[in-house]
Amino acid sequence: MRTAGSDRCDVLISGADVQLAWRWLVSLAVALVLVLALVLPPPALGLEGASPDPASLASGGRLFEAHCVGCHINGGNIIRRGKNLKLATLQRNGIDDPAAIATIAAAGIGAMGGYGEALGEGGPEAVGAWVWQQALEGWPRG
Ligand code: HEC
Repeated sequence: MRTAGSDRCDVLISGADVQLAWRWLVSLAVALVLVLALVLPPPALGLEGASPDPASLASGGRLFEAHCVGCHINGGNIIRRGKNLKLATLQRNGIDDPAAIATIAAAGIGAMGGYGEALGEGGPEAVGAWVWQQALEGWPRG
């Protein structure tokens, strides 16, 4: 009798455990969905922000032709050869992203003056993105 009683007790306890485990699973699943909903959109938005849209790249190219190509033809530097716009040179000089180029375009650096006013609103960012892309692609000639 005692054994049977304790058996029933075990069954009851394990029934409660199953219910508890089920509730845990459900709340875990809900939490997971919530976390995914919160976590997934930002990286997607971040990617959009990281790759410049074609229109701003094109305007970056036009700005380069208008304000930079005189000294930086094909990503070179006619005044200081060691300060050209090739990827390896940029990185050696601590210029690691489009934003760093935008800052230099706007404010100048060393012997180079700033072009912030000439480039206009959003211009430094556009030309920075374009120059960075050319550097990544190895500055195709032409
Ligand atoms: C009148 C010539 C001239 C023009 C125009 C010019 N630059 Fe420069 N640029 C230089 C010189 C000279 C340097 C080297 C400055 C130094 O460090 O003394 C330089 C350096 C740079 C650097 C750093 C390169 C490195 O490897 O360290 C970047 C980036 C750059 N220029 C971008 C631009 C952009 C973008 C434009 C157009 C908005 C532009 N430059 C227009 C002369 C020019």
